[in-house]
Parts: sequence; C-alpha cells; structure tokens
Amino acid sequence: MTSSLPQPSAQAIAHSNQLSEAIQQDIARQGGWIPFSRFMELALYAPALGYYTAGARKFGEAGDFITAPELSSLFGRALARQLIEIMQLSAPHIMELGAGSGKLALDILLELERQNNLPERYSILEVSADLRQRQQALLHEKLPHLISRVQWLDALPEKFSGAVIGNEVLDALPVHLVYWATGQVFERGVGVEGERFIWHNRLPENADLIEFAQSIEVPDDYLSEVSFAARGLVASLCERMDLGAMIFIDYGFGAREYYHPQRSRGTLMCHYRHHAHDDPFYLPGLQDITAHVDFTAIAETAIDHGGHFLGYTSQAHFLFNNGITDFLTDVSPEDVKAYAPLAAQIQKLTSPAEMGELFKVIALGKGLDQPLAGFLRGDLSRTL
Ligand SMILES: C[S@@+](CC[C@H](N)C(=O)[O-])C[C@H]1O[C@@H](n2cnc3c(N)ncnc32)[C@H](O)[C@@H]1O
Repeated sequence: MTSSLPQPSAQAIAHSNQLSEAIQQDIARQGGWIPFSRFMELALYAPALGYYTAGARKFGEAGDFITAPELSSLFGRALARQLIEIMQLSAPHIMELGAGSGKLALDILLELERQNNLPERYSILEVSADLRQRQQALLHEKLPHLISRVQWLDALPEKFSGAVIGNEVLDALPVHLVYWATGQVFERGVGVEGERFIWHNRLPENADLIEFAQSIEVPDDYLSEVSFAARGLVASLCERMDLGAMIFIDYGFGAREYYHPQRSRGTLMCHYRHHAHDDPFYLPGLQDITAHVDFTAIAETAIDHGGHFLGYTSQAHFLFNNGITDFLTDVSPEDVKAYAPLAAQIQKLTSPAEMGELFKVIALGKGLDQPLAGFLRGDLSRTL
C-alpha cells in the first residue's frame, strides 16, 4: 500500500534514516524490544528528528493532513463562543494544548476581541520547539497588539482556572498496542531485523496494560490500542484545575464502539501527504501517526481525578450549538465569492460524511455544574 505514496526527496529520506537509526539504537539499549508507545513517541517527538519536533510541513495543502482550524476560521470563532461562557463561569484565562501552526489561537483571539471578551492570558503548551516557533511567528505578525497576553508554557501550571482546549491533541499522544490471541493477551511492540523494524508480541509486564486487557471482552485475534498518555494528561489537568472546564475535540468514540468485536485491527492510522495508510514503520519522521480517542476512558479518568463530566457531542452539534451558521449572516448570499467558501467550510466541518460525526467534543470540568451551551442539543453521553 505504501508503494503508491508520493516519493520523498533524498534529503527527507536521509532525515528519516537518521531517525530510524536513533530508534534502532534505543531498541538495542532496551534489549531488542520497545513498546509501540515508545516507537510512536520517538517517531513523533524525538528531539530535532521526530515528525512534530523537526521541520516537516505537517498541516495544510502542502503538508500531510488538514485540521479544522486550518480548514476554516469559523471553527475557532464558534469555539470562542463556548470559551466566553466558560471564562464567565470561572476565570478570564485560556490554555491551549498542542496549538499546531497557531491558527486556532489566532482565530479565537480575533473573535474574542470582536466580542469584547479577551482573556487576560492565553497560554499555549506545545511540546514541539518547531511548532512553538511557528506559533510565535504567526501571532507576532497577525496580532502584535495582543501578543502581551499570549505566553508559552514549558509544563502544565501547578494550578489553573479558566478554559482549556485541545484540538486533535489526544489522538497524537503515544498509544500501547494490545493483541488478544489464543486465549492470551500480548503487548505488541517493535524489534529490529537487519535494518527493518518488525512487530513483536510478548507477554505484558506493564501492570496498567494487564489490568486494561482484562477489563474488556474482545474476540480472539484482536488488535487494538490503549492510550495511557491521553489518560495521564487528562488526569494531570483535572488535578491541577481549580475552577473551569476543558474541551477536547478529536476523532473517536465511546469504549463500546472502540472495542467493538468487528474493529479487530484497531484504529492506528498514518498520514503522509494526504494519503492515509496503516504502516507506522513507513519513513519514520516524515509521516503522522495517530489513533482514535476512547472517550469513555477520557471521561472516566477525569472523574477518577476529581473532575466531572460536562458533556459529549458530535463536532457538528457542538458547532451548531455555538451558532456557527450565524457567521454566514454577516455575508450576503448574493455575494457568491464571499458566501460560497464559508458555506462550503461549514459543510465540511459539520457534514456527517466529512468531519461532523466522526469528530466528537467532550467537556470536563471542575467546580462548574451547569450545562454548557455547546452541548445543549445532540447529547451523545449515552454512547460513552
Ligand atoms: C495533530 S496536531 C494538532 C494541532 C492543532 N491543535 C490543530 O488542530 O491544527 C497535534 C499537536 O499536539 C502537540 N502535542 C503533542 N503532544 C503534546 C503534549 N503532551 N502537550 C502539548 N502538546 C502536545 C503537537 O506538537 C501538535 O502541535
């Protein structure tokens, strides 16, 4: 399948070979085997070499995939309405996790300025130095008058009140692979044969993974993922939040659908120049690797760490509930040049055939108990 993908340049291949060697050395140091989560962590985030940490284009037409904020400013504008409500109930602070190119921060701040509801502080926590630089360049150029409100964090703050957002962040965190076969559970990890990465199953030693594997029932010959990193991030956020809410937007489902008997090969996906495939060993460092989000695990983790569940719905309902179509009324339908692209963007963001239903939005909070506007219609919490 990967043989039909666009050919990378010689320079890109050299970069990928350098990262592959670094991963192989890591595998050798660990005695010939690493969990897949370690492979994914290095492929995406190895300092200066990983897909997110090195200079790959990543987002947009010239990159590998398109996210909602890259597709349309209306996404950030609608989200900003939800953030106003959360800030009014808590504190005038926003923290964005994994801000990508900075486009979502830009759209949100512009909309909050229009609505006269700017936060005192907009903090960004970004693990990639390359992306942090891109975010800084974009916001310095487009929002010089607001830049004093924006700060970049090196770690989660000890305490936080306000609104937290993360668009397509949970899916980018490393996952462990679990394989059920012959009545036993295995952890699927990565070894090396010659110069190639190979899959290698072994009996699990990781206590969390053993507990997880025993907690669900799946048929034999069944492969799936579990994201302890996503759970860990949500747990830390809930422990550190005093008052406020966090909104995560991502592709995924509740546990029943995630670990459905028919989804026997999991949800791991790779994106290379707008081609999706399932081989994470293809050109490490040049392609994105992701897994869908188990939103049941996210909600349960929040509750176990002092947070509470505030809502779960589809991206389409969340955006409609936050009035995304109102932005069309700013433009006359007769002005086809201005109106048609906006209508097409809303269609992409909300149509069930595009991003509208696969993408979900979950809200978790601390100290807030009233329903949030984005979740008033289209409740999907029964699917968790
Ligand atoms: C798929 S991109 C999404 C970017 C952006 N939110 C968007 O929607 O275009 C994932 C982002 O999460 C960042 N990231 C990954 N792990 C992170 C972590 N533990 N904390 C904060 N950011 C993280 C990546 O560097 C990248 O910016």
